[in-house]
Amino acid sequence: MEYKKLTYYCKILGLLIVTLLIISTTLSVALVHKDNTTSNQNNNENFNSTILTHIDQYTEEPYDDSAEGILAAYGEDIIKNTYNYFYRDGQKIGNHLACSNCHLQSGTKAFAAPYIGLTSVFPIYIGREDKIESLEERINGCFERSMNGEAIPENGKEMRAIITYIKKISKNTLGGERTEGQGFVKIDIPERKADLNNGLIVFEKQCVNCHGKDGQGEKIAGGKGYTYPPLWGPDSYNDGAGMGRVLTAARFIKGNMPLGATHDSPILTDEEAFDVAAYINSFDRPQKANKDMDYPNLSKKPKDCSYPPYTDTISQEQHKYGPFNF
Ligand code: HEC
Ligand code: HEC
Repeated sequence: MEYKKLTYYCKILGLLIVTLLIISTTLSVALVHKDNTTSNQNNNENFNSTILTHIDQYTEEPYDDSAEGILAAYGEDIIKNTYNYFYRDGQKIGNHLACSNCHLQSGTKAFAAPYIGLTSVFPIYIGREDKIESLEERINGCFERSMNGEAIPENGKEMRAIITYIKKISKNTLGGERTEGQGFVKIDIPERKADLNNGLIVFEKQCVNCHGKDGQGEKIAGGKGYTYPPLWGPDSYNDGAGMGRVLTAARFIKGNMPLGATHDSPILTDEEAFDVAAYINSFDRPQKANKDMDYPNLSKKPKDCSYPPYTDTISQEQHKYGPFNF
């Protein structure tokens, strides 16, 4: 009887121990699992806040009041209000555009050739000069062509400010690699010559409200720059500029125009962007001198470069308007 009672208690105890063991293992497995998921989440959060994988993820950070922060803020002002800078004897050097007329939102909009990440991408090979170029040299390319002006001194305060600004907004990008959202959207190039009549139809429907029927845009009241920049004529980009190439302009327009269009909600079709790009580039604009010196290695010349010389026997007209199926 006593013995039986003892084995009975032993069994109960055994059962209790087994149950406790089961409960504790389940609990600890669950805890470890939970730990893992929270630490993964933390990792992801850290990851997102340090490295951008798409320009869309960029978030603006305030300037600090260090000497570098003040210089970067000056750089952003030059990008946004370029027309207020670069005068000689009261005369504007170049046109009255702003860098941000093409590099939208101070160079932070995805697929509007944003500046984010460029400090770690440059120096990079540029076909137009057939050499590895610094970021300063690339910026001066836009000063001489898109701005129809002159190169600015690489060590001057304005260039240092622009570079410092670009460095600031590039903080969270990978070194040495391009980030998704740089450059422009890709389009399917129609296998035909651009249609200027269709370009005019698109222009009248989608562009004249802001850029005007004569393409001359609208000046800022009492200011030097434009609320709506001109698309051709004496105060526009010159014929050596990237925007002067029909395919480059079409890719810019597809991802950004009419104002409000973005890469993930474009307004025009590829065909419309192609035709309207050809339409705006069919008008006169300032002529860049010495364009025959561009692309010292002619095999690097893009198909849609509208000025000679070429290595092939395709006409200048076809190089300008397509078809580009060669
Ligand atoms: C009329 C439009 C226009 C204006 C104004 C303009 N740019 Fe550009 N910019 C372009 C285009 C188009 C490209 C790309 C060219 C190409 O792909 O061939 C470009 C490219 C660049 C690049 C290289 C981008 C990359 O991803 O490699 C930099 C840097 C740059 N521009 C800086 C500037 C600065 C600074 C200003 C003002 C001083 C300026 N741009 C004004 C149209 C413009
Ligand atoms: C709602 C007004 C609006 C409409 C409509 C519009 N744009 Fe623009 N466009 C702008 C503004 C504003 C800028 C300058 C962007 C900035 O500074 O933020 C610009 C810039 C441009 C630029 C680069 C700067 C330059 O002057 O070369 C081109 C090219 C351009 N637009 C073409 C077009 C085309 C083509 C259409 C029609 C398909 C169009 N836009 C429709 C407002 C508009």
